[in-house]
Parts: sequence; C-alpha cells; structure tokens
Amino acid sequence: MTASILFVDHTAMMGGAQHSLLDIAEANRARSAVVLFEDGPFARALEGRGVRVLRLDGGGSLRQLKKRSALPGLGALVATVRLARTLARVARPFDLLYANSPKSFVVAALAGRLAHMPVVWHLRDILGEGHFSRANVRAVVSLANWSAVRVVANSRATADAFVAAGGKASLVTVVHNGIDPTPFDALAPDTCREVRAELGIPADAYVVGCFSRLHPWKGQSVLLDAVARMPGVHALIAGGALFSGEAPYEAELRARAALPSYAGRIHMLGARDDVPRLLAACDVVVHASVLAEPFGRVLVEAMLAGRPVVATSAGGVPEVVTDGETGVLVPPGDAPALGEALHALRRDATRAAALARRGSAHARQRFSRGAMLAGVRRVIDEVAA
Ligand code: UDP
Ligand code: GLC
Repeated sequence: MTASILFVDHTAMMGGAQHSLLDIAEANRARSAVVLFEDGPFARALEGRGVRVLRLDGGGSLRQLKKRSALPGLGALVATVRLARTLARVARPFDLLYANSPKSFVVAALAGRLAHMPVVWHLRDILGEGHFSRANVRAVVSLANWSAVRVVANSRATADAFVAAGGKASLVTVVHNGIDPTPFDALAPDTCREVRAELGIPADAYVVGCFSRLHPWKGQSVLLDAVARMPGVHALIAGGALFSGEAPYEAELRARAALPSYAGRIHMLGARDDVPRLLAACDVVVHASVLAEPFGRVLVEAMLAGRPVVATSAGGVPEVVTDGETGVLVPPGDAPALGEALHALRRDATRAAALARRGSAHARQRFSRGAMLAGVRRVIDEVAA
C-alpha cells in the first residue's frame, strides 16, 4: 500500500515551488491532499488537476515571519503553534507530512511532533547568501535536524547550503526539478509571429525574454541596464510581484521601462499563464538572478522551448546550464557582461542555435518530470517503509 501524504504549503500564489508541487501532488492525488494556509491561484490550480485542497486559516500571522528578519514577534510564534495544532489534527488520517516551503516546514515540524508523524521537507531555497537572516537559517536548520526524516533538495547547491548551515548531510537527497515538455512541443509554428503581433513587437526585432517574479534578487533591473546599451533590442519581462514587499520593485521597473530612452522597447507583461507561447517569441532567454538561484525552472522551460539561455552563474544554475555547451553563464549583477553575452549570441546565430539544440536535448534527458516524480516517490517509499 502506498503511503498517504499530506502536502503543506504556506502560500497560494504560483511561484516555481508551487508549479513543481502541482506536478508532485497530481501524481500522488489518489492518496494525498494539499494543505494551504491561504486561498488563491495555487488552490484553484491544484483543484483543476483533481487534487484535494484543505485550506487552513492562519496565513495572515505567518506573513509576519520575514525571511530576513532577526527574530519572529510573539504574535507570529503563537500563531505558528496554533496552526501546528490544527495541522496535527487535520494530518491524523495521513501517513506523512510533506512541507514545500520553509514557513510550512516550521509548522509541519511542530505538527509532526504533536501527531507523531514523519515529516519530509522539500527544500527549494538556498539557506544563506543574502536570502535569509542568520537567525532564521539557524532556527529552521535546527528544526530540520530535530524533526525532519528527510530533506529533499531541488539542487546540489541547495543541499550544500543546508549542510554548510549545519544541516545533517544524512537527511538530504537531491531531486532536481523536472518539467513536462508537452506544452512546448504543442506550439504552432507561427506562435512567434502571433505573440509579437499581440505585444506590438516588430516581427524582425531581436527579443530578449525574462520570466521570473518581480523581486530585486531576480535581477530584472540588471537586464534593463544591459538592454539600455543595446539599441533596437526589445525585452519582454513576464512575472508579477507575487509576495509581500515586492510591489515597490515592480513600480520602479515599470517607471524605468516607460522612460523615453527605452523608446517602448521594454514590455512589462505582468504575471502570465502562457509562458510557453511567450518563450516562443524570444530570440534568447535571460535568467538574471543576482543572488544564488536554488534551481530556476525557467531555464529548463527556455531550453524545452528551443531558446538559447544566458544565465547568472550562482547557486544551482550551473547544474542546469553548462557554459558554452547548453547556454552561456555570466557573473551575477554584471550588466556589461550580460550585454556582451547577448551581443555575441546575436552576432552568431549558428552558435545560438547550437546551444539551443543541445539545451533542448539536455533538458529532456536530464530534467524530465518522470525522473523528478520517481525521485520524490523513492524518498516517500523509504520513509513509509
Ligand atoms: N512563471 C509564470 N508566469 C510568469 C513568470 C513565470 O508562470 O509570468 C513561471 C515560470 O514559467 C516558472 C516559474 O514561474 O515555472 C518560476 O519558477 P523558477 O523556478 O524559475 O523561479 P522561482 O520564482 O520559483 O524562484
Ligand atoms: C524555488 C526556487 C527556484 C526553484 C523552485 C522550484 O522557488 O527559488 O529556484 O526552481 O523553487 O524548486
């Protein structure tokens, strides 16, 4: 008998972690459910795939827990314990708790202790290097050592950061994200022309795409710096300000994009649900994170869409993209280097096409959805045994 799993996430917004859990929960939906601490698009996406969703109220107080704050307030602590009690009750019919984010892991770790249930943490964040305060890293790593039966890391870099922060290496298994190529393969041949017409981008323009939520660490502003020095080049920037505190950055990017010096070449599209089509409209895809990216699903998606990628070399990115082989890597936060890499690809279409071809083959072979699901299944079966 396969184990029944209660997946837990704190957010109902659609970030990469939620896109990935969507596939995992769907594959396990016969004997699982997903608990969310708020309602939103992720809940509807799960239900759309036939996954049972349980909404627990309490996300409001959890939002007070900030990644980079030193210590949580008393109110947030009390709310966390209360939520853990409720989760422990809801979890009783299941065999294991499976947390998809640091915040949901904190609640699940306590709930697991209360309900005497094993807890797996799917770690999708690089603990440290500017992402989290030291106090938060210490707290969550101690909690993992104390109460997680396994930690599934989305890259070797994520796993290494966990261990460097004091996490037990014996807990960790690396399972890279995997993505279904079907929506990319189903694109009609004239998608590029169609999308460019929709967006008012000239059919013969050179188009650079960027597909990440709008947060300073995702580095869209570095891309704007690079494009400022590339006359005639258009940038298509898809992604929304998903989480609290991201709105001022979006406003800043939009104000810059509207500057007369860009002459309408920056297209701020907001959060989109048609990423495969948009990728088809790009000549090259840039992943510009200025901090270590734990994995970067969008890199695999760009490769599946047959687009060459230029990405910043930090975190899990070099596990996905090999410089000069399946894409081009540049240092994070270096607009001149990014601009240079884009110029070089634009000048040499043959090389760009070869990188894209090898990237596409690599993505299909190395980052398949099947391999990801099998990796997660192995961990669950071992825990259940
Ligand atoms: N994405 C999307 N709409 C957008 C921009 C991005 O659906 O407008 C998706 C993108 O296709 C990818 C995910 O959001 O699957 C982002 O995941 P990634 O791992 O690249 O970064 P994260 O935001 O999780 O750090
Ligand atoms: C997180 C990470 C991202 C990763 C995604 C899926 O959101 O920021 O790099 O691709 O999780 O694991």
